[in-house]
Amino acid sequence: MADLDTLKETKEYYLDIPQKSEAFFLKGSNALDWGMQNRLARIFNPKTGRTVMLAFDHGYFQGPTTGLERIDISIVPLAPYADTLMLTRGILRSTIPSSSIQAIVMRASGGTSMLKELSNEAIAVDIEDSIRMNVAAMAVQVFIGGEHEKQSIINMTRLIDQGTRYGIPTLAVTAVGKEMVRDARYFRLATRICAELGAHYIKTYYVETDFETVTASCPVPIVIAGGKKLPELDALKMAYNAIQQGAAGVDMGRNIFQSEAPVAMIQAVRGVVHENETPEKAFELYNTLKAEG
Ligand code: 5RP
Repeated sequence: MADLDTLKETKEYYLDIPQKSEAFFLKGSNALDWGMQNRLARIFNPKTGRTVMLAFDHGYFQGPTTGLERIDISIVPLAPYADTLMLTRGILRSTIPSSSIQAIVMRASGGTSMLKELSNEAIAVDIEDSIRMNVAAMAVQVFIGGEHEKQSIINMTRLIDQGTRYGIPTLAVTAVGKEMVRDARYFRLATRICAELGAHYIKTYYVETDFETVTASCPVPIVIAGGKKLPELDALKMAYNAIQQGAAGVDMGRNIFQSEAPVAMIQAVRGVVHENETPEKAFELYNTLKAEG
């Protein structure tokens, strides 16, 4: 039993030091609840304000994508280098060790395959299941200008409402139909609509011209998708330009897992995102790590 005689009588209240009230580090996220901010701080590194999300949810509409045929072999070894894993609940439960410490961003929309009209999606995961899987955020596809634009926007707002009840942020993924022009004008429109309707952060594509106007006009953080596989140096240049023009990270899939050396590539991407490394320096790192095998 504790010896009560040794209890100190004097107490220190630091009356001359006001309690700190720190602003949350992420753009547009200061007014969010504690749980919501805490989850965002698991996705975005509080030291850099940025994230390297590894995206491998492609199978939810296109089946075993090249590089994702065996996620246990190709992706699980990459996980320690990512801040966040973006995936489906099927892959999480079947293939990802539950001891993983990376933040999980769960694909929560679906319902169509690449053989049909992709914008015809619905919410595909119950909020209870997202809570059960301890996700850091839920991701929903939004098809601005697409055939089922309204339905996809309502999927997003429903998910935001459900997530807000439990402190789970929503990532809006701007999906561009084949017939649409991928330019800054389109992405300003798409990202801003998602943010205005409550998305906590937004994934979009990088565009060569005026990308900084997309990040400037979006009041919450933007991460970029990698898109089709490029030569490694070009992918690093794209990531670098996006970061320097205001993106808060990447949500990259094919340019990592389809690389000749995925473990080297994800570390090179980390250099660009978290260390402001130039693409050339990061490419040197890629080649060194690749040579080391
Ligand atoms: C699928 C997605 C993917 O996660 C996204 O496209 C990122 O992967 P990649 O870098 O391969 O484009 O949202 O709809």
